[in-house]
Amino acid sequence: MKYSFSGKKRLTLASLFVLVFTMSMGSAFAQSRNAVKIAVNPAETGPVINRHIFGHFAEHLGFGIYGGIWVGPESDIPNTRGIRNDVVQALKEIKVPNVRWPGGCFADQYHWRDGIGKPEERRSRINVSWGGAPEPNTFGTHEFFDFIQQIGSEAFISANIGSGTVQESADWLEYLTATGSSLAQERARNGHPEPYDVLFWGIGNEVWGCGGPFTPAEYVTELKKFATFTNNYNPHTPTQFVAVGPDSFDEYSFGYTEAIMEAWANRTWTWNIQGLSLHMYTRGGWPAVIPATGFGERQYAEVIQETLQMDQFIIDNKAIMDKYDPNVEVSILVDEWGTWYAPTEGTNPGFLIQQNSQRDAVLAALNFNIFARHADRVHGANIAQMINVLQAMIFTEGEKMVLTPTYHAFRMYVPFQDATRLDIKFDQGTYTVGDITLPRVDAIAAKGKDGKIYVAITNIDAKNTASFDLTLDGYSISNVKGETLFANAIDAVNTFDKPNNVSPKAISPRVARNNISVTVQPQSVTVLTIDARK
Ligand code: AHR
Repeated sequence: MKYSFSGKKRLTLASLFVLVFTMSMGSAFAQSRNAVKIAVNPAETGPVINRHIFGHFAEHLGFGIYGGIWVGPESDIPNTRGIRNDVVQALKEIKVPNVRWPGGCFADQYHWRDGIGKPEERRSRINVSWGGAPEPNTFGTHEFFDFIQQIGSEAFISANIGSGTVQESADWLEYLTATGSSLAQERARNGHPEPYDVLFWGIGNEVWGCGGPFTPAEYVTELKKFATFTNNYNPHTPTQFVAVGPDSFDEYSFGYTEAIMEAWANRTWTWNIQGLSLHMYTRGGWPAVIPATGFGERQYAEVIQETLQMDQFIIDNKAIMDKYDPNVEVSILVDEWGTWYAPTEGTNPGFLIQQNSQRDAVLAALNFNIFARHADRVHGANIAQMINVLQAMIFTEGEKMVLTPTYHAFRMYVPFQDATRLDIKFDQGTYTVGDITLPRVDAIAAKGKDGKIYVAITNIDAKNTASFDLTLDGYSISNVKGETLFANAIDAVNTFDKPNNVSPKAISPRVARNNISVTVQPQSVTVLTIDARK
């Protein structure tokens, strides 16, 4: 049958209704024929997806701390003891589990005593790693702990082993956690009688480069000293000590994992570690030249292809760790990950300022999924970085603040924090752009702490929608709702003028005969919340 609006026969309202209905049913049938079948088995549970895989990284770099978090108590920007209220409110919504601080490369030039005591008496320095910017040290230990307490998060301190001494590191953790010692009394005089909780303690950062440089063998020697003499005295929160692992695929880099794990397996009672850090950026080589906006499908696909290498990077490091630690006593913490693009034109290149588009949200979801699939060994990850730097959650400018697409991806995945991973089966399909072939879709499922089932679906395909038919083996579905994050342009961003250009929308998937049908937009991230019963 042919329908023509320009033909001799005039279309009546009734025939128009039949036409539209028939066409929409036709497309629904076509969709369900091509739909990706997802089978979730709630009875088949995997490990807990540690909430710390949704951790953040805040370095003294550009406007990451000063301007982004800290404006000072005298500022006109609404603040609590110098910390921006708008930023705190936004971060509380995404339940940041831990914040890694003060670096990065900055950590190995940071001397904690510069950042305590009366602000007007603090020593100022030059931030040698990042643009030679002045470092006033007004944001120091107490301000950091005030910040994480305001957002309800935990501390991941990166200690200075490059230019600092073993004693300096030992003193800092004693200052933070002891009761009764002179350092504890000094902390009390500086306003905090109660010991702080320090969950993670990084023994250095990128020790092959800015945090050393040390060869694997040299680092192991340092690691033993720092791990032996740096002690937590607060029994309320045992500190997990984290050694520095590799950041690339070459044999030399894997040599760090090998040397550290071998030393760990043969250690004496004097020292221990609970974590090994990996770093993996998506940046297309060095220097970073990928544009953050104004790119086409090809560059989108290149970036996604690169980021998916995170999976193999974890697999390779896990294989080395399994040899020495089959019982998984040492976790992987991917404590720096994210996109590193060419800096925004006109900004200080040392400040690592870049826009954040829908591509970054897709990429964040794919990394969350990888971490979740390795939840047996990956117990933490920190996106680089929290505010105004690299793949940021938040941009600020004076009193203005805007949330990025990456922020929204973090917010949508909150129910996966400490959720139990569930078995999920589906065919990823393929999505091809020139000579690049990627999976077309990705998904994970988990049972949340609230008993609901959560399924996160990413449509990687930048041009075509994807339809899904989802079943829960042996369970009957009573209710489904969802949220989806998509944008009309491949490089769509949020700006101070258009802050909601990319923001999640509610969706109501169809449930029929215990099947959930949902069609998602190209290049999108969707999370479904399902009430189901056996
Ligand atoms: O996140 C920016 C920098 O990247 C960090 O300071 C360093 O650890 C890494 O090379």
